[in-house]
Amino acid sequence: MKRFTFGSTDVETSRVALGVMRIDSRSRDEAKTIVKTVLDHGVTFFDTADVYGLGKSSEVLGQALKDLGIKRDSIWLQTKFGIISTDKGNQRYDFSKEHLIEALDAELERLGTDHVDSVLLHRPDTLMDLEDVAEAFDDMEAAGKALHFGVSNMNPWQVELVQSGVSQKLEANQLQFGLMHTHMIQQELHVNMEDSPSLDHDGGILAYSRLKKMTIQAWSPFQYGFFEGPFIDNPKFPELNAELDKVAKNHKTNKNAIAVAWILRHPAKMQVVLGSMNPDRLTQMAEGADVDLERQEWWDLYFAAGNDLP
Ligand SMILES: NC(=O)c1ccc[n+]([C@@H]2O[C@H](COP(=O)([O-])OP(=O)(O)OC[C@H]3O[C@@H](n4cnc5c(N)ncnc54)[C@H](OP(=O)(O)O)[C@@H]3O)[C@@H](O)[C@H]2O)c1
Repeated sequence: MKRFTFGSTDVETSRVALGVMRIDSRSRDEAKTIVKTVLDHGVTFFDTADVYGLGKSSEVLGQALKDLGIKRDSIWLQTKFGIISTDKGNQRYDFSKEHLIEALDAELERLGTDHVDSVLLHRPDTLMDLEDVAEAFDDMEAAGKALHFGVSNMNPWQVELVQSGVSQKLEANQLQFGLMHTHMIQQELHVNMEDSPSLDHDGGILAYSRLKKMTIQAWSPFQYGFFEGPFIDNPKFPELNAELDKVAKNHKTNKNAIAVAWILRHPAKMQVVLGSMNPDRLTQMAEGADVDLERQEWWDLYFAAGNDLP
């Protein structure tokens, strides 16, 4: 398993993480097997959020870690907050100090821990008061409830805005990224062109994150579109699957591993947040952390995913 130092910190963790957005529907035994599977492959980073399963996902993860007797300091726990979700399916965002503090306390309770290693603002709240966020972060840090801070789904100016108000360095930004979701790369390669890949969806977040030493955490790395489904073995993507198969054979591994290795190959040193709840697939995906792709293989996969150059 490839490891790296998180953001600009000197704290080491795994390049592959397990995201538990989908673990809420799993039984106690299933969750234990899922968590043990990734731990056995060197994954020590776990990502959750208070809205996943309306809190159930964090509870299930906490129980699984307890059942497995995992030592707290052997893993990295991250949660995200700032979204209010109801069981009627509607949502709004809330970065008020009261809400952020309550939300983190509730997550600590569900996870069965006294601190998280990192906490991220889940999606930008346009009603955000910087003073509120600053006070919430200061309180959490002073109480030792959150060690590191970051954001999710923010563009560079939004990161700059939050950073201007808080005293903690923002270390991570969680963004959708994978072989079938590459706007941040397309836009860099087609800069100043008139074609659709040149469309700026995120304000140059890839270059910005590298400059600021912020870790990009790639969410939904196996999905195309917004949760439309996985692209592996999907007849909609024959060229990509053929290329994944070819590269997998070269490396004596599988297509899931190559899709992970493709993200890890980028020098931005992204983290991959896996979302599968299938232990066999997780095993295949984790293998990708030991595969080093050649430059040509990286480009061949990028083109097979339907991309081009100007
Ligand atoms: N910050 C944000 O706004 C945000 C948004 C979304 C997600 N996230 C984070 O990112 C994590 C991962 O997201 P995700 O769950 O959407 O990731 P994903 O790995 O792209 O998708 C997982 C889903 O696709 C299926 N799948 C994946 N690979 C497959 C394959 N090769 N063949 C067949 N099915 C496959 C999985 O089914 P099986 O379980 O059967 O394998 C599962 O239903 C989440 O848990 C969460 O932590 C963050």
